[in-house]
Amino acid sequence: MTTDAPDTAGPPPTGPSSSAPTRRTFIATTTVVGGAVIAGGGIAAAALDAARAATEPVPTSRVSLTVNGTRRTVTVDNRTSLLDLLREHFGLTGSKKGCDAGACGACTVLVDDRRVNSCLTLAVRLEDAEVTTIEGLATGDELHPLQQAFIEQDAFQCGYCTPGQIMSGVGCVKEGHTGSPAEIQEWMSGNICRCGCYPNIVRAVEQTAGRK
Ligand code: FES
Ligand code: FES
Repeated sequence: MTTDAPDTAGPPPTGPSSSAPTRRTFIATTTVVGGAVIAGGGIAAAALDAARAATEPVPTSRVSLTVNGTRRTVTVDNRTSLLDLLREHFGLTGSKKGCDAGACGACTVLVDDRRVNSCLTLAVRLEDAEVTTIEGLATGDELHPLQQAFIEQDAFQCGYCTPGQIMSGVGCVKEGHTGSPAEIQEWMSGNICRCGCYPNIVRAVEQTAGRK
């Protein structure tokens, strides 16, 4: 009859006992505990920052500017973009928010006759500026020639990009970058049309520049 060898059989252990921490478990434990303390500290610091930010007053500034011929004075959060000023404060929703990052041109307006992406322009930097949006382009019931050209050339489909395209086109014509369809394409390249109306948009700009 054979019997199983007792668990205690064999030579006595020469290393650390099984209950004693090995070098490896010691390092692992201290790393985890240390990481937890650091992470906990980071979370606590972020919570403190958030609480402090919530109680601190938001920095604001007063700015006076002219929009479509009307003088306006407003106090805004310093971080407000011109696009948000127009849309949220003045109710001028013709300028569109496409990307809000300067990549699509849907928010294009004229500031002192220069086309800008209003989503990238801080409102508080526009003291005494003259801003023209799509709402200010027509004269009464008479459309601006480029607005009329967009209709005649069928230069839009969904229309989302159209206000930005027209404001950019007005700038393009004023700047004289209309020598050829290729030149117009180049100088209108910051305005994206997801409907692909580019050939008609170029024709509308050409028409307005008197090239057609
Ligand atoms: S919304 Fe300003 S560039 Fe796209
Ligand atoms: S007409 Fe639809 S995005 Fe240009």
